[in-house]
Amino acid sequence: MTQIPHSLASFSLKDKVIVVTGGNSGIGKAIVEGVGSLGAKVVIDYRSHPERTEELIEEVGELGGQSIGVQADVSKLEDLQRLIDTAVQKFGKIDVMVNNAGIETRTSILDTSPEDFDKVMNVNLRGVFFATQYAAKQMISQGSGGRIINISSVHEDWPMPNNTPYCVAKGGVRMLTRTAGVELAGKGVTIVNVGPGAVATPINDSTMNDPELLAKLNAAIPIGRMAQPEEIASVVAFLSGNGASYMTATSVFADGGIMMSSPGL
Ligand code: BGC
Repeated sequence: MTQIPHSLASFSLKDKVIVVTGGNSGIGKAIVEGVGSLGAKVVIDYRSHPERTEELIEEVGELGGQSIGVQADVSKLEDLQRLIDTAVQKFGKIDVMVNNAGIETRTSILDTSPEDFDKVMNVNLRGVFFATQYAAKQMISQGSGGRIINISSVHEDWPMPNNTPYCVAKGGVRMLTRTAGVELAGKGVTIVNVGPGAVATPINDSTMNDPELLAKLNAAIPIGRMAQPEEIASVVAFLSGNGASYMTATSVFADGGIMMSSPGL
């Protein structure tokens, strides 16, 4: 009889310790709910709105999971280290680090100020770089290895005019995942990017509040609509489990086909 290499049990996240940055809103919140409902122990990093984190912790409990909140700004290295340390103090290890926190300024190359540039880089690239470094050191030292999942974007590869700093940072995350993924593969640490397309979250409020722009966006997406955050969280849940053990140094896109969109000319 042919042996099935991974039974469906490999999709369980029972007792996996998963840290999610930017975990109390948008895609991060959906990831926390998703992996929490599959039995993970979740560390919710957040920068603002502690009350939302409290509500989420309760919700995860109702879903059968366990979670804690840690207020930490991923653009500050001492906060990042404290996030990792708190996760280990509370749950003993880190199996999955989800670098989800992200911001954008929607500014063109012509009018991006040095402050805008630094702000975006510090969260979207420097924060991901050092969270990867700190988490990987912990995963190596705990002996069991682990997985790093970076919530990137279609814009790690696909230009978005007038959002230049964001695209530059996401392009950096693309190469971070490829390079660090190759470096760390032999040490039991795997790294995968998830590249969402347009998702109905606060980062896209300005588009969603502009009916004309929203119609234009929907028309550009082969599936014909924006994603719900849960449609990204389910990909992260799969990647967090043992079923994704052979994936590293690569990107997975959940974009409704937008990167391949073609007018058919
Ligand atoms: C950006 C959004 C954009 C979407 C699709 C996301 O990464 O944050 O502003 O609408 O990509 O282009």
